[in-house]
Amino acid sequence: MNILAPSLLAVDFNNIERDVKLLEQSGVEWLHLDVMDGCFVPNISFGPPVISSLRKISKQFFDVHLMIMDPIRYIETFKKVGADSITVHYEACEDLNKTIKAIRDAGVKVGVSISPETPVCVLEPYIDLVDLVLIMSVRPGFGGQEFMPEAFERVRTVRTWAKKYNSSLHIEVDGGIRLENVGQVLQAGANVIVTGSAVFNGDIMRNVQAFKNILEA
Ligand code: DX5
Ligand code: ZN
Repeated sequence: MNILAPSLLAVDFNNIERDVKLLEQSGVEWLHLDVMDGCFVPNISFGPPVISSLRKISKQFFDVHLMIMDPIRYIETFKKVGADSITVHYEACEDLNKTIKAIRDAGVKVGVSISPETPVCVLEPYIDLVDLVLIMSVRPGFGGQEFMPEAFERVRTVRTWAKKYNSSLHIEVDGGIRLENVGQVLQAGANVIVTGSAVFNGDIMRNVQAFKNILEA
């Protein structure tokens, strides 16, 4: 089943409740929450207080994407404020096995992500340990960037590993996804689509419907 996970990084923060409700009315079940610390990525977004407030107004699945250094320090915190899934970056963890275990022990779904410059082969040993793999199709840190087509091959590789080691694995792709390229991303083997600017720029309900028509085709 294909899932649309709009990234709140692109939301109008002056109207975040209005827009989250619009997403819910449009049948969007996942919210992709981009947490950035200004160290792992050269940008700062939002953190636990914002997610805690969102939790009070939304029943959606909170897909938290931690673009922060040494994320093991904050697993409990993000669990407490309502994360349903926590994705950490391979490049940001001193001990990825330990971090995966900490997320598991917190009773939250586990995701691991790699930035475009990281060889996809690093992920193979973790495929059967996680619920989700996030392939970045832009350099993490900002919305509105151009999709990097190298992501297609990386998704195909992870999809072959999923068939071998973990058939229920979610393969999520994040960054630069638009109506024009989302079909190819699905074809490559992704089933969770993150998109920020392509949903929040313009008419949200219309944008969501256009994506859903492709994801549910
Ligand atoms: C980038 C974030 C992405 C980004 C997606 O570091 O992880 O989720 O917000 O935004 P668009 O869809 O505009 O590229
Ligand atoms: Zn993200």
